[in-house]
Amino acid sequence: MANEMKIAPSILSADFVRLGDELGKIEDAGADMIHIDVMDGHFVPNITIGPFIVEAVRKATSLPLDVHLMIDRPDDYVSAFADAGADIITVHVEAATHLHRTIQQIKEKGKKAGVSLNPSSPLIMTECILEYVDLLLIMSVNPGFSGQKFIPSALEKIREARRMLDKIGSKAYLEVDGGIKLDNIAEVASAGADMFVSGSGVFGTQDYKKTIEEMKKRISS
Ligand code: DX5
Ligand code: ZN
Repeated sequence: MANEMKIAPSILSADFVRLGDELGKIEDAGADMIHIDVMDGHFVPNITIGPFIVEAVRKATSLPLDVHLMIDRPDDYVSAFADAGADIITVHVEAATHLHRTIQQIKEKGKKAGVSLNPSSPLIMTECILEYVDLLLIMSVNPGFSGQKFIPSALEKIREARRMLDKIGSKAYLEVDGGIKLDNIAEVASAGADMFVSGSGVFGTQDYKKTIEEMKKRISS
């Protein structure tokens, strides 16, 4: 069973010169949480945000912070991002050698723990960890950049992930990230997702409130 639907705009597509204003606007627009993309230039070919910026974002919004770590050796950084104010910390199964330990570390810090899968990684990689996580994140683009096109095969993976979660009675969120826009969000929702990351699909539009309202309308019907 899906949870209450949540829209999590990714600030990777925000105007960083005016980040404080952007956060205010997105909160007023009805965003449910802020998705923060952390990239290290190793796990993905881009470098973005560190704990220092997460700490600044924490001060600028009251929304929960959904921190997506696209980094190698996530264990080394869980503590720093937790202390910076993350509410959810998601790590990639491809990057964490001792995933169970990493998930425990996140929980010991009092945070919600998520695991994420690249488009080429099979769901089976999450089978032994699923019962311990609060969130499963299916990537619908290859991580590294915003503004990419949604990979259609993600839909079948989302359906299968929904079946796996329901089978074990998990209440974990099923989050989808990459290429989600007004024109495909309904399809992603009917596949079984209940948390939707959108970067360019929100920040690339003129009126954030109108976009988020319309997204919510499309996933509730
Ligand atoms: C991709 C990031 C995404 C990205 C989404 O590596 O994890 O969160 O910012 O951006 P859009 O919605 O533009 O694909
Ligand atoms: Zn992300």
